[in-house]
Amino acid sequence: MALPNKPMGETKAVRDPAVEEREVDILIVGGGMAACGTAFEIKKWMPEGMKVLLVDKAAMERSGAVAQGLSAINTYVGENGPDDYVKMVRNDLMGIVREDLIFDLGCHVDDSVHLFEEWGLPIWKKDEQGKTLDGNKGKKMGTLKSGAKPVRTGKWQIMINGESYKRIVAEAAKKALGTDNILERVFIVELILDANVPNQIAGAVGISTRENKVYIIKCKTCMIACGGAVNIYQPRSVGEGKGRAWYPVWNAGSTYTLGMKIGAELSMMENRFTPARFKDGYGPVGAWYLLFKAKSLNGLMENYAASDVAKKELEKYAPYGTAAVTPTCLRNHLMLFEMKEGRGPIIMDTVTALANLAKTMDKKELKHLESEAWEDFLDMTCGQANLWCATNTEPEKKNSEIMPTEPYLLGSHSGCCGFWVSGPDLDWVPDSYKIKADNGKVYNRMTTVNGLFTSGDGVGCSGHKFSSGSHAEGRMAAKSMVRYAKDHADYKPALSKSNQELVDLVYKPVRVFLDNCNYTTAVDINPNYIKPSGMTMRLMKATNEYGAGTATYYMTSSKNLEIAMELLQTMREDCEKLAAGDLHELMRCWEIYHRIWTVEAHLRHIQFRKETRYPGFYYQCDYPGQDDKNWFCFTNSKYDAKAGKWDTFKRDYIKIIP
Ligand code: FAD
Ligand code: ADX
Repeated sequence: MALPNKPMGETKAVRDPAVEEREVDILIVGGGMAACGTAFEIKKWMPEGMKVLLVDKAAMERSGAVAQGLSAINTYVGENGPDDYVKMVRNDLMGIVREDLIFDLGCHVDDSVHLFEEWGLPIWKKDEQGKTLDGNKGKKMGTLKSGAKPVRTGKWQIMINGESYKRIVAEAAKKALGTDNILERVFIVELILDANVPNQIAGAVGISTRENKVYIIKCKTCMIACGGAVNIYQPRSVGEGKGRAWYPVWNAGSTYTLGMKIGAELSMMENRFTPARFKDGYGPVGAWYLLFKAKSLNGLMENYAASDVAKKELEKYAPYGTAAVTPTCLRNHLMLFEMKEGRGPIIMDTVTALANLAKTMDKKELKHLESEAWEDFLDMTCGQANLWCATNTEPEKKNSEIMPTEPYLLGSHSGCCGFWVSGPDLDWVPDSYKIKADNGKVYNRMTTVNGLFTSGDGVGCSGHKFSSGSHAEGRMAAKSMVRYAKDHADYKPALSKSNQELVDLVYKPVRVFLDNCNYTTAVDINPNYIKPSGMTMRLMKATNEYGAGTATYYMTSSKNLEIAMELLQTMREDCEKLAAGDLHELMRCWEIYHRIWTVEAHLRHIQFRKETRYPGFYYQCDYPGQDDKNWFCFTNSKYDAKAGKWDTFKRDYIKIIP
């Protein structure tokens, strides 16, 4: 159940928190798009007596990447086939993807979109004349399910009025699951393996961010869907802009850290998403390129992407670079190329785009078009609309700069890092893509830890799911999880750590603080501890300078990575001295801890892959260009907690769709 908002100020942390124990069959960690999909679907398949619990660090109505809302659903297969969807994702991610996972998702994603519409999400429609009907006006054309035509921006995206998107999706999830089966404002710190059964998930430990309370939860099967990772690199927004980022600031790499620390195999963690966004406000570009048909220009006002120089540059990365749609990383690459040659800044030509569209419009339609341009931001990145106001920017009169941002890690947008998971148990799926559980059975979307599932940003090698695909994937995993719980009805989870050990672990930063806080007069400055904000700055400085951040135009090298690794090692040691005076800070301590581990996985993978597979996202300057002969494969890793060692290795890519 949700706890009320806190009164003014943060709740002070105490040395000895209350402990609440729970035991369920199925635990869902996260409350975002994927977890809401799982929550919506799961009870339909659960037999009488089976228990489920969802735990979100925030309030589901506004948690995760869709918190502010969205203005488009980026994956609606519709008239295209799932095999076409595979080809699009494969091309955008430079060839190396899990085609089984993508095809499987492509077959189911539209069903989630149809549900969103049924639940009240306004989806733009085309009328008989091909004109756009937005908001509730679209309703008169019927539903997508009944054959109404959406307003396509690109081949895959459809427009929505989505300010309340997350509220709508969360409401359905909550209703389906029942509020008694939901804990909000509880941050999961660690997953716990079984004491007796090797490689079997047995539970999790979390902290309330509203009460001095630790939750110790036992389960037979668990979903981790905590989104991707943000604030791992120094953001471009500093000073008065500090705190702004493209990705939702509350996704701290928990998905990856929770799983990797208990030995779940990661895949393609070197992949990152460095989105090109409207400068300083992080406004999205998709609607501008696709719906408004805008071009981006260099500082000389040239359409650089159409130049011979760009063509030559893209040819180096054929067949992806020469495909009809240039992959996202290569679009960035072209931008960076211009900037490095001194032909920056990059400018989105909103003026020409709107003027061109206005040619066939009457006054009323033109006004509507202008408000759509604003609404695109107001629906999902209202800070950008604010910035337009603050800088006297009317898009029909003044162009805006765009810029590649700091890097983010995610597996559901235009990136593909995450866990190596099982594909569906179908005859066309290669054996090496099926993970066999202890009972020899295959469970779709299960990681290499028995009973541990993931979806959305957590599933590696299969980006471009976006909001709709993450929801659908959560639903697909739900069915597998119930099957797993049923097949393991006799399993009784036994945690490999005692309650006391778990409390001592998660409340350590509070105790470090209480033991030392009176030593100095300024509570944030103390020789005996470090506050999470200080550690965050340390991490960001290290990644920015050595780990291919914005400081070096996303360039790193073997030597730089070696230094980054050393710095990370020290940071991990110093995490023992993290200190939290209140509950919010306690969450911050664990967030930075999750971020450090996630970054380590990311950089280890970059170190391992001796080529530059994603120019524009990052460059390994000792290994420029792509080396298909040696590296057209998945790069995976596994952390062995007992030995404290990482293993990094290759797995074969198998082409399924010609
Ligand atoms: P999220 O939806 O981010 O959910 C993560 C959840 O985990 C949250 O509930 C969070 O509170 C919880 N959590 C995190 N850590 C913990 C922890 N330790 N313990 C407990 N809970 C935790 N898609 C589109 O279709 N169209 C768009 O226009 C579009 N625009 C986007 C714009 C932005 C700025 C971003 C960031 C994404 C956009 N996407 C868009 C993509 C879409 O939002 C994501 O693909 C989708 O939300 C991923 O779902 P998820 O469940 O994996 O993660
Ligand atoms: S959003 O999630 O914030 O909306 P973004 O604006 O980058 O992201 O992209 C929205 C959708 O448009 C994604 O499906 C993305 O792949 C696609 N897209 C963005 N820019 C282009 C482009 N120049 N060409 C083709 N597709 C694009």
